[in-house]
Amino acid sequence: MTRSTEPVGKGTRESSFQTDRISQISRSVIAETHPSMYLMHKYWARKPHNIVAEYVKRSTSPGDIVLDPFSGSGVTVLEAIRAGRKAIGFDLNPLATFIAECTALPANREKLLAAFKSLKERVARNINESLYSLRCSHCRREATISHIVWSRRAQCPRCSRTFTLAALKKRGQKYLCTNCREWFKEAFPGLSKGTKREDVTEIWFDCTNCGMRQRHQKPDAVLKEMLEGFEKRPYPRRFPDPPLWENPRILIRPGMRYSEFFTVRAAKALLLLHKAICRTDDVSVRKILLFTLTSGLAQMSKLIAYRGGFKTGGSAWTVPGFWLPAHHVEINVWNAFEARFWKILRGKDETNRVFASLFRPAYNFDDLDRATIWLRTHDSTDLSLVPTDSIDYIFTDPPYGDSVPYFEYCAFWAPWIGASLAYEREIVVSNSDKRGKSIENYRELLTMVFGECYRVLKPGAPMTLTFHNRDISVWKALVDAVLESGFSYIDDVYQVPAVVSSKAQLADKGSMTGDLIINFRKTPANSHSDLAKRSDANEIESLVIEEARRIIYERGGRATTEELYRGIIHCLIRHEVVGLFDEGIDKLLRRNFQERARNQWTYGSMGPPLEGLYELLDHSIERIVKSILSRGPMDETEVFAAVLTYLGNGRTPSRDRVLRILRRLAKKEGDQWQPNDERQVKLFEAHA
Ligand SMILES: C[S@@+](CC[C@H](N)C(=O)[O-])C[C@H]1O[C@@H](n2cnc3c(N)ncnc32)[C@H](O)[C@@H]1O
Ligand SMILES: [Zn+2]
Ligand SMILES: [Zn+2]
Repeated sequence: MTRSTEPVGKGTRESSFQTDRISQISRSVIAETHPSMYLMHKYWARKPHNIVAEYVKRSTSPGDIVLDPFSGSGVTVLEAIRAGRKAIGFDLNPLATFIAECTALPANREKLLAAFKSLKERVARNINESLYSLRCSHCRREATISHIVWSRRAQCPRCSRTFTLAALKKRGQKYLCTNCREWFKEAFPGLSKGTKREDVTEIWFDCTNCGMRQRHQKPDAVLKEMLEGFEKRPYPRRFPDPPLWENPRILIRPGMRYSEFFTVRAAKALLLLHKAICRTDDVSVRKILLFTLTSGLAQMSKLIAYRGGFKTGGSAWTVPGFWLPAHHVEINVWNAFEARFWKILRGKDETNRVFASLFRPAYNFDDLDRATIWLRTHDSTDLSLVPTDSIDYIFTDPPYGDSVPYFEYCAFWAPWIGASLAYEREIVVSNSDKRGKSIENYRELLTMVFGECYRVLKPGAPMTLTFHNRDISVWKALVDAVLESGFSYIDDVYQVPAVVSSKAQLADKGSMTGDLIINFRKTPANSHSDLAKRSDANEIESLVIEEARRIIYERGGRATTEELYRGIIHCLIRHEVVGLFDEGIDKLLRRNFQERARNQWTYGSMGPPLEGLYELLDHSIERIVKSILSRGPMDETEVFAAVLTYLGNGRTPSRDRVLRILRRLAKKEGDQWQPNDERQVKLFEAHA
């Protein structure tokens, strides 16, 4: 393993990165949940802002240039300029750069409000009168529909009766036929052909005349006929209707098209709203209004399941993919837009405060002399717009194999900002067969990106990757791509997520679902670890088996699959031999260890490691807790962060486990933990 303490490379464009920063970098930080400015628009896998900020600050000095070649919704670049750095954020996805830009874009509050008011005058009345009007059941004056509840029709395959699904008893995926008492699955003939008949089962309306809000009503035959009849009309000609990539993983059926996400009524309302927004003169204001539209689009679609008794319609994306629930609620498009606008306005108040003077866009590299941020929709396999040896730090979160097909998801928003998606250049592993996005393609494109990252970084400068995947082949593709490009490994930290479900904590199986944060550095080529150079498959296998034995031992004789995975992947990365490990981890575990209860592994034929070779995890935790509490009182999060700093990866304990030991060793005053008594303080000091 090369861990030279001398700065490498020559010339004047040396990185300001200092080696002593490395040890600081690996200190664990506890993730915080997102502030409202990062919640204005959905994007998948946003990184916790405080972690990103911490890494940027530790690795760079003010004025340095930070690059994120997969900048997504922009957390890295925005946190970088917030910390007084300059930032370059490239992402191939136009939705990503749009979200990043609109998040930071300073917007005058008065102008925004005025534009919204004018929009309301120009279009809200028009939408409501032409599409959502009805007679109030109470005063008989004109009122406005706020919600329409739809239920899909199904036909019992046994007796052929049709029902609205909402009316039937449901167990798992099956419904009970009230006619012949047979259990059946959603089986309306023609469902697969796309003629999904739906019935209106309920509507809600607002009446300004009698001041009623969201009044529920079962529609009478006339209203039912009116609403259902409307849906038999064709979609407006100008309504976008591209075909979608078939992908069972995100619930896109063969032959499905864009319009299926919306009712005909919503489609008409959306076109009216969009047209009016596009007529807004002020460019920034127009962008923010479009941002409001895409941000609220799911609420205007058929993706909202009906759950009864809610005000806002509940959230979309409750399951991964485009789930079109059989029982769903259609929300008045203007209302959904308006509700979203107030949310965005609150977010903008926050970003105006933070970014007012910091957001100064650049349009090329040289602009960065005076500007602060260069955002660009760009394929990062080619960074020729960025000079060689010019970047001080890269922090990035590369696509996670097949975890999120970003482009297929973003196809949902793309038409409304006129974006076209360069599907063939996307780095992803997709279950959509026709896209040809295999693991090989993923690896090939990633290698190009990291080759470019290597070139543009200053000699000796660091690069941090955050990553999360259980599939060893995806890890291999990623880490290989990085190492092949010439980077050398510094260290890695397991990052516990911001919100660990209480269930996961109670189960004490070790915290799950966090990211691995890996630090690399641009060193001269060919400085890889000895083991990597020798590349002996047997040796690597023994290494992995020993690591697994150790993890099982430390955890008192059993470990979960997740803990073993984390430890093994870490071990392979640390020795820079991920690429040489050909067997699946699962297979290796099964061959050498025993799975006792579900997900609990114990020693196999080889038995435990030699007594005294390793320390039990609880003892390690105890030692660390004693040592850090000897320096003074600390709150629980600080204690937890310190423990995680020393116990990485396969060793990372759950918060619960740490807390149990903390309770035994210390007492709590206010929210601060400290040693139980004087004698213990002495003892703790001895430990430190
Ligand atoms: C895991 S996401 C990054 C999310 C980001 N960390 C955030 O906080 O929003 C990976 C990103 O890589 C982008 N991407 C995929 N292929 C790319 C390419 N060839 N060039 C640049 N970006 C690409 C995707 O659009 C996606 O936004
Ligand atoms: Zn009324
Ligand atoms: Zn039946």
